[in-house]
Order: sequence, then C-alpha cells, then structure tokens
Amino acid sequence: MPNSSSPSIVPVDEPARTLEQAAVAPGFFRLRLHAPRIAGNAVPGQFVQVRVTDDVEPFLRRPFSIGDADPSSGSIEILYHVVGKGSRRLSERKAGERILLLGPLGNGFRLPDSGTVLLVGGGVGMPPVYFAAKSIRGCRVCVIQGARCAERLLYRDELVSLGIPHRETTEDGSAGSKGLVTAALIETLSDFPPDETKETVEILACGPPAMLAAVADIARTHGVRCQVSVEERMACGFGICMGCAVQKRTSGTREYALVCVDGPVFDATQIALAHSP
Ligand SMILES: Cc1cc2nc3c(=O)[nH]c(=O)nc-3n(C[C@H](O)[C@H](O)[C@H](O)COP(=O)(O)OP(=O)(O)OC[C@H]3O[C@@H](n4cnc5c(N)ncnc54)[C@H](O)[C@@H]3O)c2cc1C
Ligand code: FES
Repeated sequence: MPNSSSPSIVPVDEPARTLEQAAVAPGFFRLRLHAPRIAGNAVPGQFVQVRVTDDVEPFLRRPFSIGDADPSSGSIEILYHVVGKGSRRLSERKAGERILLLGPLGNGFRLPDSGTVLLVGGGVGMPPVYFAAKSIRGCRVCVIQGARCAERLLYRDELVSLGIPHRETTEDGSAGSKGLVTAALIETLSDFPPDETKETVEILACGPPAMLAAVADIARTHGVRCQVSVEERMACGFGICMGCAVQKRTSGTREYALVCVDGPVFDATQIALAHSP
C-alpha cells in the first residue's frame, strides 16, 4: 500500500471553454482553453485531468501537463500526442466547446532563482519544460530538447522568439545533432568547470522513462541537482485510487510515492526510475 505523505484533496472541476485547437505536427495538437481559476494558480510541472468527451467512453479523465498559463487572459494550453482513444477524442473537440478540467494538480518544479538551469525535454515531455523555461527568472537557462525527427521538435519557434537558448537533437538527424538528448546534456555539462557544476547547475527534465533514468544517472555522475517530472499512467489524479504509485529510493522498508499528489515532479534521487541502478 502506498504511503503518500501528501493530503488527498478532491479538487473542483472547472468548465473550460475551448479557444483554439491546432495541429502542430502530424498527430500532435495544441489546445488553448479559457480556464481562469487554473490559469491563475498553475505553476510549471503541474497538470490537468481532462474529461476528453461528455460521452460515457472513455470514462477516465486523461492527464496532460500545463504547457503554458496566462493569468491575465485566463487561458491555459496543453500540447498532446494522439496515442489512443482519449487523446483522439480530445483532438476532435472544436473551438467554443466546453471541456471539464480538474486542476491544477500535482506539485510542479521548484524553480531555481540563481545559477544555471539545464531544461531537458524529450518528445512530448516538452510542455512542462517550455513552461518552466519561460517562467524562470534570475538564472542562465538552456533548453536541451530531443525528438524522433525535426517536425516533432515541439515549441521550437516559441523558444526562438522568446530568445531562450536551446540545443536540438533528433534521432534521425533531420535537425540539430543526430542522436539522443542525453548525449547533448553530457556535452553541455562538460562545458562547465567540474568544481563549479555541483554548486551552480541544476537540471529539470521531463520525457520518457528511459530518458529520465539516463538524465538522473548523468546528474548523479556530475554531482548536479536534478528534478524529474514523471508521466506515470493515472486514474483519479488526486490521491484516491493509488493507481500511480512509484517506489521511493529508500533503504529497508518498501515505500511508495503517488505521482499525482507527491509528484509529478520529484528530486531524481528520491524515486526509483526505470533502468536506474
Ligand atoms: C502528469 C502527466 C502529464 C502528462 N502530460 C502529457 C502531455 O503534456 N502531453 C501528452 O501528449 N501526454 C501527456 N501525458 C500522457 C497522457 O496522459 C497519455 O498519453 C494519455 O492519457 C493517453 O490517453 P489515450 O486514451 O489517448 O491512450 P490510451 O488508449 O489510454 O493508451 C494508448 C497507449 O498510450 C500508452 N500510454 C497511456 N498513458 C501513458 C502514459 N502516461 N505514459 C506512457 N504511455 C502511456 C498506453 O500504454 C497505450 O500504449 C501525461 C501523463 C501524465 C501522468
Ligand atoms: S492516486 Fe489515483 S492517480 Fe494517483
């Protein structure tokens, strides 16, 4: 049985009006919603549970990271990949329609206020990374993003227009350096004098489990602090069903954290990530 330390609070639904739904790459959609209460409270790394349709099926809500929030206009954005029936139904929603959202949920990143922040985003892990990159103040920031191919490098234009330094990697070599985002992270870290790295650099990352495990290993090797946002499968999203438990890295007794309330952001040393030793 998971032993989460966070209280289970049943959050309130916000009926959000769809402002815009646009395809940003084949199978990838950006959805902008008018949800003033969520927009006014969201921090990077938090997520919303989306009731993708008013029909009975699919019954469970689907979790998506908040990719941007603008308290002044009361709007939020999510960016998602169509992978199954829930995300497909969501992609069919039109401007003007009402969508029920629970949120903002989870804890969000602890944003540093000095030093250098390396933000690592893999594939559709980019939304919270982008939101964090544009929210951080008082730090040197570099986004290191990886995707399968050039057209899946999400938020490219936005990063350029905001002047946020970023490095790109693609698995097929169609943009940036060919290879994995973790290779670019190691290269970037090697630019720092080793004695400075530990004190001045922090990594924030979101992406597939194997990428997060590799990023955590790299952070440990370089003695760098690292926060990871974990996108575990979820049901309720607010601490009731215990369906999102991940094992903590504790010696002795088996302890668990709930991704939906204790996370989705964890210190990389706190939980057992896939493939980590
Ligand atoms: C906190 C959090 C934030 C997330 N943020 C985003 C986001 O910003 N953009 C985005 O595109 N997706 C995000 N996801 C993943 C997203 O929730 C799932 O892709 C979505 O729920 C799939 O629903 P579906 O009905 O379309 O697919 P399903 O029919 O439920 O599943 C289709 C396939 O996708 C796989 N799948 C489903 N959920 C996940 C998951 N969480 N991780 C890995 N594989 C999964 C299934 O194993 C199956 O193979 C996030 C998940 C979490 C927990
Ligand atoms: S406890 Fe239900 S999804 Fe986390």
